[in-house]
Amino acid sequence: MRLRPRNVRSRLTLWYLLVLAGLLALYAGVASLFLFLSLREDFDQNLLEDLETVEEMLTKEPNGGVSLHSSHPDAAEPRIGHFIEVWSPQGALLYRSASLQDQALGSPPGPDEGLHDPTPSSARLPNGTRLRLASGIYHIEDQRIVLRVAYSQEALWRELREFGEVLLLGFPIAVLLAGFGGYALARRALSPIDLMATQAKTISAEKLGDRLSIENPEDELGKLGSVFNAMLGRLQAAFDQLRRFTADASHELRTPLTAIRSVGEVALQDQRSPAEYRDVIGSMLEEVDRLTRLAESLLALSRADAGHIQLLREDISLVRMGKEASSVVEVLAEEKRQQIDIEGDANLVVSVDRLILRQALVNLLDNAIKYSPAGSQILVRVQSGGDKQAYLEVIDQGPGIPREHQPHVFDRFFRVDKARTREWGGAGLGLSITRWAVEAHGGDITLKSEEGQGSTFRVSLPLAKVSSASPSKGGLQ
Ligand SMILES: Nc1ncnc2c1ncn2[C@@H]1O[C@H](COP(=O)(O)OP(=O)(O)OP(=O)(O)O)[C@@H](O)[C@H]1O
Ligand SMILES: [Mg+2]
Repeated sequence: MRLRPRNVRSRLTLWYLLVLAGLLALYAGVASLFLFLSLREDFDQNLLEDLETVEEMLTKEPNGGVSLHSSHPDAAEPRIGHFIEVWSPQGALLYRSASLQDQALGSPPGPDEGLHDPTPSSARLPNGTRLRLASGIYHIEDQRIVLRVAYSQEALWRELREFGEVLLLGFPIAVLLAGFGGYALARRALSPIDLMATQAKTISAEKLGDRLSIENPEDELGKLGSVFNAMLGRLQAAFDQLRRFTADASHELRTPLTAIRSVGEVALQDQRSPAEYRDVIGSMLEEVDRLTRLAESLLALSRADAGHIQLLREDISLVRMGKEASSVVEVLAEEKRQQIDIEGDANLVVSVDRLILRQALVNLLDNAIKYSPAGSQILVRVQSGGDKQAYLEVIDQGPGIPREHQPHVFDRFFRVDKARTREWGGAGLGLSITRWAVEAHGGDITLKSEEGQGSTFRVSLPLAKVSSASPSKGGLQ
């Protein structure tokens, strides 16, 4: 089973402790090593100096042995931990200090011992005492001898052990204190998250206006909170839009349904002539027509919102698109004795989904016909807009759109005059569908209108990649 704390606070503390413990252990190790090396250097220095002193105090006995001059402290009373041995090069023991108690400082000297400058080395006595030992070849009068001087290292190791014990004792205390400190710090640093989580829990679809409180917008958690708040803002806007859309849509659906119902109820109240019934059925069908169109528009918009519509692009002349759209609304224009003229460069080819763009232009022409007076003229003008785009304008001689309403005409369900436009059956969706269709093709739509002086809707679309000089490819004219 893996030991993995569940909250970030504990995980941070654990990591912090592990790193700290590692660093402390490393520090203790390095410090002990340095202490040991520096102590041993002093120790070795003393040892080498003592080697010289001892050599000067050696005297030759008449029996061929060697003794230590009486002024050396070891001669009278051996110092604890100081050991001296003198050998002849042939391997005969000439002197051994009493402190050795008959233990040997190693085996008799080999031919190489003491030949080089004395350098201390580590050794052990048979009783386990750790030593530093240095040896050298000297002469007493005419006799060659091998002198060995050794110091016990026990005191040095004891010092080192004590140092280690102090470190070991301090280690858990330091780690424990650091752990508490680290936990408190992590807790404090992360406390805004707890606050945010508590606040976020209370935010629901009905309370999307609430926001997280942010202590410091500059730090990481503050930035996270701001991003979250911005997301809430976008969600709120989307929800509001959806609510408005649903409310508007149901309102629009209710009006024709109420009309059908009341016309029907009135007709059922009395006995009527067949001609009157025909009238009633006629006006009911009109309302059904309106409902059908509304349902189609809603469907188009919801498909567009869901992003499910795939554009089946083909290259087609913009003038031709204008002609196709005007042929759809021809009957309506004829009813109002209006004339639709189409002019412009037939070589301007765009790559569009024919049905979708045609519907967009039909919506524009439908408006131009609906809102312009009888007998007026409507102009569809196609123009080049530089190398990369083409314009199609629908220009009418209608009442124009007041300046304050112009920014809203492309909004869903927006109508300048709700009461009046109802007579023509509009739901206020035509221009929003047109705008979606144009933007889906990478273009845009703008409105230029002065009250009382007609309106001009300008659709700009990117030109198709084919050269505009040879647009007849594929018989698109
Ligand atoms: N050419 C125009 N002249 C004057 N007003 C217009 C013109 N085109 C649009 N409008 C105004 O903009 C509003 C929105 O137009 P839109 O086409 O979106 O809706 P609609 O025509 O009312 O209904 P729908 O197109 O869904 O049948 C219209 O109600 C109308 O008030
Ligand atoms: Mg319309």
